[in-house]
Amino acid sequence: MDKFIIEGGKKLEGRVRISGSKNAALPVLVSSLLADGWSTYHNIPDLADIRTIKKLLANHGAQMEGQGETLRINGGNIVSCEAPYDLVRTMRASVLVLGPLVARMGQARVSLPGGCAIGARPVNLHLKALEAMGAAIELKEGYVEAKAKRLQGATIYFDISTVGGTENILMAAALAKGITRLENAAKEPEVVNLAETLIAMGAKIKGAGTDVITIEGVDSLRPCEVSVIPDRIEAGTFMIAAAITGGDVILEGCNPEHLEALVMKLREAGIAINPVEGGLRVQGAPEIKSVDVKTLPYPGFPTDLQAQIMALMAVSRGASVITETIFENRFMHVAELRRLGASIAVDGHNAVVKGVKRLKGAPVMATDLRASASLVVAGLVAEGKTTLARVYHIDRGYQAIEKKLTALGANIRRVKG
Ligand code: EPU
Repeated sequence: MDKFIIEGGKKLEGRVRISGSKNAALPVLVSSLLADGWSTYHNIPDLADIRTIKKLLANHGAQMEGQGETLRINGGNIVSCEAPYDLVRTMRASVLVLGPLVARMGQARVSLPGGCAIGARPVNLHLKALEAMGAAIELKEGYVEAKAKRLQGATIYFDISTVGGTENILMAAALAKGITRLENAAKEPEVVNLAETLIAMGAKIKGAGTDVITIEGVDSLRPCEVSVIPDRIEAGTFMIAAAITGGDVILEGCNPEHLEALVMKLREAGIAINPVEGGLRVQGAPEIKSVDVKTLPYPGFPTDLQAQIMALMAVSRGASVITETIFENRFMHVAELRRLGASIAVDGHNAVVKGVKRLKGAPVMATDLRASASLVVAGLVAEGKTTLARVYHIDRGYQAIEKKLTALGANIRRVKG
């Protein structure tokens, strides 16, 4: 397993290009299963999770070709409606094939994703919504088996705002008979990117980006050509990395509108953030002020940046309270940040972070993608050497992060193992 070795203390300076969004690309690529013919997708990031979704789509019979950031997929000829345990276990987002397969093929057998490091993460709301649309659902031998001659439009109220649930049902409803109304729908930009993709395929969708989405089902969809939005979490991670090192970085190709909650918090912490031609400039401050942060569904502060901002608060002046409201177990990075000298106490959903003058390098290990990112961010400012094990977590969601950081002046290298 690869490791990162980071020698902290270098200011990040220069420009970094933000890649396409992992969490937008996954559902957008899955939507290829809804149409017959070749669709073209631009700005696809080169990531382990994208390779996993390609494997899954190929397993269903999709044909693929592509170069660099452009991928062409023909999902016309579906040969298997089963998403096997091995692929779903590797990546929970595989469950997104459920809605499209039932809608297009009338059936699907999808392995039930288990829990993961950050929480139990059930998919009960995806299943409840499909049932409301007339699907017969059974759980057998660890698999969800869903059947429906043709899904019927329905009014669905999501008890919790769910990104994956909203995406799954958007795709299912696009081919259902009649009108589906999603209430308390997720408003994340990734949901909007998927809705725009479906609209480009001929779907009739209104309200994406608000908490009520209406979908008028159509009989068939056509291929499309679309671009995936920039990755707001990658952008946010680089902003925090620039801030923690007192650096001066321009993020190219990000969408500032998607980053408002983070921008507000960083400004409160004393970091200067200004739009510049083609991007956003982040300039660190000699002293970071402590700010309280509470994760919330979009447009609130993203849970996927909670671990990284905690690393920043670990070296702030004062104390901050970080509250995680989306996942029940997303503080696994705390114990590792403590190994670097951070002073953090956890009480249920709250972490109280008392800023320290400096962090000191140490061997650390991550349990999930964003936890790894927070340890990289902390390692960039920690005195001496930080060795981060299990880099495969970070490879799931950050394209060439060590190369991008090196280009900004960081001292970070990958050791193959
Ligand atoms: N939930 C349920 N039942 C459901 C669905 C969700 O109880 O049927 C709960 C979850 O357990 C969680 C909350 O609702 O407590 C929100 O979960 P959501 O469904 O919104 O999350 P997701 O779709 O599984 C996506 C991202 C995550 C991101 C969350 C929240 C993808 C592939 N994943 O997950 O990204 O944290 O939304 O914004 O889009 C990451 O990239 O590191 C990552 C974990």
